[in-house]
Amino acid sequence: MEEKRLFAKKDPVSENMAIDMERIPHHIAIIMDGNGRWAQKRHLPRVAGHKQGMQTVKTITIAASNLGVKVLTLYAFSTENWKRPSSEVNYLMQLPIRFFSTFVPDLVKNNVRVMVMGDIQRLPAKTQQAVNDAVADTANCDGMVLNFALNYGSRDEITRAVQEVAAAVQAGTISPEAIDEELVSQHLMTAPLGEFADPDLLIRTSGEERISNFLLWQLAYSELEFVPEHWPDFDAESLKRAIIEFQGRHRRFGGLKNE
Ligand code: IPE
Ligand code: IPE
Ligand code: MG
Repeated sequence: MEEKRLFAKKDPVSENMAIDMERIPHHIAIIMDGNGRWAQKRHLPRVAGHKQGMQTVKTITIAASNLGVKVLTLYAFSTENWKRPSSEVNYLMQLPIRFFSTFVPDLVKNNVRVMVMGDIQRLPAKTQQAVNDAVADTANCDGMVLNFALNYGSRDEITRAVQEVAAAVQAGTISPEAIDEELVSQHLMTAPLGEFADPDLLIRTSGEERISNFLLWQLAYSELEFVPEHWPDFDAESLKRAIIEFQGRHRRFGGLKNE
């Protein structure tokens, strides 16, 4: 099965198709999956996959920025990933520190602004510090937004939004009838992304075909692509291929084809 899909990936038809630079998806969200399997295939510890995956984050950030993507959201750690062995969790908590300690100058050079969404306060103090510093150090960049979902879970996000809206109703600042989709969106963690809050394209690597508690509200009309490569093997060409595939889709948003 995997053989077949890897073959399909090299399909000459898709390789000969050119990317349309006028129709680059504004917001691309990626579920970076398959680090552990990438490592295990090489008889390496799972964390070696996370280390290599960090290099992929750098490559894809620069590639997306060069293509003119407005927002790149990367799912780095879910609210469910705490279930993993503490040694792996600890390693994952170190990664943002390592990532930003070497990569912030490149981000600034490429005019990329770091943002983060999730329950950041539950991360170790040093991880929070690294993330907050990167956000501050890139605050004046006005190119692509690199948005990390860290200790993020969409059910947690929606639950918090409901709590905030309920509190506003209780305080009498809004009436239940005033609650609409726009108001709900304003209470989600993607609200700071403004008009680009909803991804145009969601990519999940490693062949798994599920959402795993990612952006449940925001993905309502996103195009979904599940690609076979494990995240450490995903590269600028894979990204281009995904965008070309996206450009061949017809988004209808519930309307009709020729509208
Ligand atoms: C994705 O790779 C990274 C995180 C979830 C943090 P995995 O660690 O899930 O790799 P697999 O899915 O076990 O191969
Ligand atoms: C989703 O991957 C979370 C991240 C990529 C951060 P998982 O590997 O945790 O998802 P499941 O467990 O396969 O659904
Ligand atoms: Mg996984």
